[in-house]
Amino acid sequence: MSTRTSILAGLLAACIGGSAFAAGAAPTGIGWTGLTKPQDVILARAELMEHMEELMRPIDTITVTPGPLKDVEQLRFNAEVVGAMLKAVPHLFPPTTNLYDPKALTPQTIALPAIWQNWESFYRLAQNSSKAAEEFAQAKGGPAMRAASRRLRASCDACHTPFLRKYEPPKTKASDAEFDFDSVLPPKK
Ligand code: HEC
Repeated sequence: MSTRTSILAGLLAACIGGSAFAAGAAPTGIGWTGLTKPQDVILARAELMEHMEELMRPIDTITVTPGPLKDVEQLRFNAEVVGAMLKAVPHLFPPTTNLYDPKALTPQTIALPAIWQNWESFYRLAQNSSKAAEEFAQAKGGPAMRAASRRLRASCDACHTPFLRKYEPPKTKASDAEFDFDSVLPPKK
């Protein structure tokens, strides 16, 4: 194989997905934090998301409070920060952080493998959401800002619905009802 064909073969192997690392195509050198510190990358995106949620709170609030908007400049600033954060979002999902464990009670990540199976769609949803934040920052007047706020929130949900573990309230099992409490209580005198 010529050098050129082997480079092409390597690229092809890397494109074919998850097995790229196993196939020895892992990038080497400093700065590949997805390889050296996947847990830190997961933590970084969780914190980023939590802070976006905080910045979104006043933006969400305007859709449920009637009357003239207050602190419009602050709302715009929050949206600009959220828009910038969303530009970083897809870069915090290297394939080495595809570590969702459906059996874990408190999984280290709730990002589903579907992200890496539908990467283009995930990437586009992040870009759309960033754009929605920028559009909010530019909207003028109460009705336009309220509509833009709803669109921005919808753009968060559009990614969470397909790509996050569903919230499941704790289930009561049939065996709970049949549980014999007397068996664990101290004997009656
Ligand atoms: C392109 C997809 C995408 C978009 C857009 C997105 N998120 Fe997320 N979000 C995720 C993923 C994936 C996770 C789970 C990350 C993990 O557990 O590793 C997450 C997790 C979260 C969490 C839970 C964080 C935690 O404690 O684990 C919050 C809160 C959150 N997102 C808020 C937002 C808000 C607010 C927006 C919109 C302004 C938003 N997200 C937009 C993909 C997205």
